[in-house]
Amino acid sequence: MNVFKIDGRWKSNQKLLNLASTHGIEFQLDHRAGESLYRKIKNVKFGENLPRQLLGKRYDGKKIPFNDLRRQVGHVELIKFFYHLYLSIKNGDLTRISKKVVELEDELRDFCQGKFAITTDSGSSGLYMALKAYGVGFGDEVILPPNSFAATHNAVMLTGATPVYADINPYTHLIDPDAVKKALSKHTTAILPVHMYGQEVELDELYEISKHHGIPIVEDACHTIGIDNLYNFPRTRVYSLNPYKNYSVITGKGGFVVTDDANVASYISSFREQGFTKQKNFQCQDGFNFRMPPSAVIGSLLRLRSIGLNNFLRLLIATKYYQCLAPLVEDKKISFLKTEGPHVHHHVTILVDPEKRSEIIKKLSQENVETGIYYDVLMHKQPGLDSFSIKPGVAICLHQAELAGQRIIQLPCSHTLTYFELKAVIRSLYNVFGLSHKSCPDRKLSDFLTP
Ligand SMILES: Cc1ncc(COP(=O)(O)O)c(C=O)c1O
Repeated sequence: MNVFKIDGRWKSNQKLLNLASTHGIEFQLDHRAGESLYRKIKNVKFGENLPRQLLGKRYDGKKIPFNDLRRQVGHVELIKFFYHLYLSIKNGDLTRISKKVVELEDELRDFCQGKFAITTDSGSSGLYMALKAYGVGFGDEVILPPNSFAATHNAVMLTGATPVYADINPYTHLIDPDAVKKALSKHTTAILPVHMYGQEVELDELYEISKHHGIPIVEDACHTIGIDNLYNFPRTRVYSLNPYKNYSVITGKGGFVVTDDANVASYISSFREQGFTKQKNFQCQDGFNFRMPPSAVIGSLLRLRSIGLNNFLRLLIATKYYQCLAPLVEDKKISFLKTEGPHVHHHVTILVDPEKRSEIIKKLSQENVETGIYYDVLMHKQPGLDSFSIKPGVAICLHQAELAGQRIIQLPCSHTLTYFELKAVIRSLYNVFGLSHKSCPDRKLSDFLTP
């Protein structure tokens, strides 16, 4: 029996359980989905109908969206959301840290298995405050990978520190610990690894470096909500509630920090409230207004129920891609990143010939498949920023990240993608690369791909 943990509060669990038992998959009722999904994925054979029954059936032949936000919310959730918002407004519960914030923080702390969770108004402000909490400021250097969203290095620059880029592992596109070692200097004040695309960086070596040099680590975990904490050392992780993420909170903006360090927790709790302690208008440290707005608190509480399910659906989609596109990999048309670490499949990435990438994207678009590139312009190549942020002497080591930036294409893998859309994307890839899906050696897969 294969065991999956699915959010115990998801109301259709019984339906899932019934489905699972007919497909030889055992579900455990627990909301911490990520790690157990990862641990079991290698042994799982999904029944052919499982994705069909779990993913919606809609596909009208129109454009297959990369991630259509309009699909994220059903009427019942919207009604609940407006009802709770109405209550907050009626009770004047709009500015201060309310009971609902405490409730959400308790849930998030438990969900992410840390000692403290502090809500913020975004992942970006969470990163900024976490760095500040460790004393990062003017004249300091922070080591990070160059292939992330602008928020990662903007947070560093906002503290006044200099981002110093370390190259990535070409097989995972995650920061390479050897490159981190090379980027260290006497000015290094923090290391900022990014758990890209939903896959967690292997942390043992990084925390060794951190311990050896006495340099703290702030983890950008904005892509990886739902992964169990596998480590027994203290960590500080920053998450985003941006609607494009797996948590997909419907209110557009929000974030939180999970930390095991009481000083970091208390610094951020105070910073987000203008540096006040419990006493209002009494500032005990630097600060600003980075509180999570009540609408996001309400939206986040409602959405907590679906993270396990969202991650599970993304796992199904990713697995189908890996299985069905294997012939294209064998034919050397595409390759996949190694996905050996804990993973919540925020993105499914294929690597293609850089010379052909634009043409491939164009052809996929002609087949009505929308794709993404995360991220083609690397941080140190952003036109509005000068090159001071590359550490002199290590620039050459960014070669892997530069190559990665030219080769990646992200396929639609939102949890709102439907079964028929998934099949259509896979078929389109076969068409674009000039391979008949009938040539697929696996009979079952070939049948799966038949329209
Ligand atoms: C890797 C990464 N870090 C940080 C952020 C910033 O999060 P937010 O949009 O909540 O500020 C994002 C969001 O897109 C991200 O993808």
